[in-house]
Amino acid sequence: MGKIKNILCKTPQLASDTVCFRGHTHSEKYSKDGIEYLREETAFVREPDTLEFIKNYVDENFSKKPKISIVIGACSTGEEVHSLNMLLGDNAKKTDIIGFDLGKKAIEDAKSLKFTIKNPKNQKREKLFGYSAHKDCYLAFPTEKPLTEKQEAYKKAFNEMFEETNIEQPQKGLLAKFCSYILGNSKDSEEYEYKNFKLKDGQSNNCKFLQGDIQKLDKIVPEGQTDVLMFRNALYHLLAVDKMNGFLRLPKEEKESKPIMEKIAQQAYKALDENGILVFGEQESEQMTDWSLVSKVLLKNGFEPIWGKDKDSLNVWKKTSKNT
Ligand SMILES: C[S@@+](CC[C@H](N)C(=O)[O-])C[C@H]1O[C@@H](n2cnc3c(N)ncnc32)[C@H](O)[C@@H]1O
Repeated sequence: MGKIKNILCKTPQLASDTVCFRGHTHSEKYSKDGIEYLREETAFVREPDTLEFIKNYVDENFSKKPKISIVIGACSTGEEVHSLNMLLGDNAKKTDIIGFDLGKKAIEDAKSLKFTIKNPKNQKREKLFGYSAHKDCYLAFPTEKPLTEKQEAYKKAFNEMFEETNIEQPQKGLLAKFCSYILGNSKDSEEYEYKNFKLKDGQSNNCKFLQGDIQKLDKIVPEGQTDVLMFRNALYHLLAVDKMNGFLRLPKEEKESKPIMEKIAQQAYKALDENGILVFGEQESEQMTDWSLVSKVLLKNGFEPIWGKDKDSLNVWKKTSKNT
């Protein structure tokens, strides 16, 4: 079943699914710019290799700066912001992180500083759909396989930053429940066990959340001051189109998507400081983003690729000194 689902999801994409990732399925209605609703699926320490690359890049390039500035666009409910913050080590003290998202509810949730991690009780359904548990459930629950050294380190850092609480998290909206059902991901207390967490006092005081649009980055950050700019796993909202109430996803035609990507690249170039980097998700093309188009536009607008988890779709781009 997992294999069949993967084939179905290749082209065209079954948009109710993320083939390569399983996280918390939040969503909210949006209805603008061809977007019907926002898929706010995310998890703590999502795509850890990319986060590690950013941490090392910051250490090597910005440690001597008096202040470091990181901007995380499309941050969803905030897990990504805290994840990077907890990996930064000593540099976190002098780093300001702004997380923004188009979703009003996503930002309200991020500001609440409360999170739920859930663990599937019924592995059968998980196996049937070819999925494993949510990517971050090892942070809160015992796992079948022993943790890797890195996972142990993330778990320790997570426990230093968050404390368990018995305060119930808000229920998801109807749409999210429906998506969850389709994903085999339902909020069903018979199928999942839950742990609720809140940020400990004094942690992540350097992080700020606000509602904002990647396409209007110039309204959010001043020119030339950002060291790391991240737009992970969000481009498909802008460069692909959902059909059939979100069950089918196709890339937009180039004449429509190119000007959008150009606007994004030009604003990102302006926002970044010298040696600044622009970071995307590791497998954006799996989400029906035309990666060759994105790459072409970035190259033309003064970026060069410097790293990728997948060598065929490099996801970290550096601002070059000359905008060619
Ligand atoms: C799949 S989530 C990715 C969350 C997180 N970046 C991650 O990688 O786990 C996509 C997010 O992009 C946001 N989004 C979509 N279009 C956006 C835009 N134009 N500006 C800001 N956020 C946007 C959605 O609201 C959603 O929270």
